[in-house]
Amino acid sequence: MGKNVLITGGAGFIGSALSKQLQEDGHAVAVLDNLSFGRRHLAGVFDDRFFEVDIRAREATRKVLADTRPEIVLHLAAVHFIPYCNQHPVEAADININGTINVLDAAQAIESVEQVFVASTAAVYPIADGAMDEQHVLGPMDIYGTTKLATEKLASEFHLRTGIPTIVGRFFNAFGPNETNPHLFPEIQRQVLSGARTLKLGNLDPKRDYIHTEDMSRAMSALLSKGVSGYDVFNIGRGIEYSVREIVAAFERQLGEPLTIEVDPARVRKVERQHLLADVRKLKAATGWEPKWDIDQGVATLLTEHVEQ
Ligand SMILES: NC(=O)c1ccc[n+]([C@@H]2O[C@H](COP(=O)([O-])OP(=O)(O)OC[C@H]3O[C@@H](n4cnc5c(N)ncnc54)[C@H](O)[C@@H]3O)[C@@H](O)[C@H]2O)c1
Repeated sequence: MGKNVLITGGAGFIGSALSKQLQEDGHAVAVLDNLSFGRRHLAGVFDDRFFEVDIRAREATRKVLADTRPEIVLHLAAVHFIPYCNQHPVEAADININGTINVLDAAQAIESVEQVFVASTAAVYPIADGAMDEQHVLGPMDIYGTTKLATEKLASEFHLRTGIPTIVGRFFNAFGPNETNPHLFPEIQRQVLSGARTLKLGNLDPKRDYIHTEDMSRAMSALLSKGVSGYDVFNIGRGIEYSVREIVAAFERQLGEPLTIEVDPARVRKVERQHLLADVRKLKAATGWEPKWDIDQGVATLLTEHVEQ
């Protein structure tokens, strides 16, 4: 049966795909977002279900939950572009930690809440070569990962304090339409759609586990309907890793044209992990979920997307 659902960060890249998925599943979705990175139209809800609120505003956040009375709260609002977090560490901590406290306290105060989902990240893991499962030792290597590790601890403490079933999803690298931050896919997409055939990129060798936002949204939906009873953590990735060069090759295949790569020193990250790969056996065993989108299909749709240059 459809539930009353609130998504924080629902006007963003992943949150908007999730809003669409949960509505297709028959849920009534409301979105809280301050539109700092998100865009209003992406939320996919009418004005009476959209709340332009900053999660750092404790009373306003509490009021949104009191007014919408959600049964499920999915907390995705955060700042997460790593270079942005490095440049604005106090803001990153304020939003990702204090904002999370406000959202969880508001969820505790409203007796309608039956289930909570909190978005974390693969950035809580340390540098490692192989696939990492949820038991892997943690060790974030930047301010962003540190704030998200705190987010996870807050979610666990929230569950202990309230008994409300709480799921943490450790998202690996998302790709798909409507990306709001200048990560690899939108960067290549922007350059290619503006006519460039020589791409200016940073580090070329690091590999990442890219998962389509629609597959991520189906995974979150599956975890919610499975109904985890206590507190649990799941990797949400695809279990395959690709280098930057391999992603460029996918764009070449879909364009049917060769692309040249020029390393732009301004884009090269000084601290960079070479691998970030999910072990997703726990997610699959718990839900039966399987990813549907491969890289080439995702790239093909990105090449038809209208992007503001
Ligand atoms: N994109 C990825 O590859 C990735 C990987 C791992 C984890 N994540 C996590 O997934 C979640 C969603 O990320 P995304 O890629 O959709 O990014 P995004 O920036 O598109 O989405 C975040 C949304 O939160 C909103 N927001 C930011 N600060 C806010 C505040 N103070 N109050 C209210 N709303 C605020 C933004 O406007 C935006 O719409 C985040 O928690 C992020 O840490 C993303």
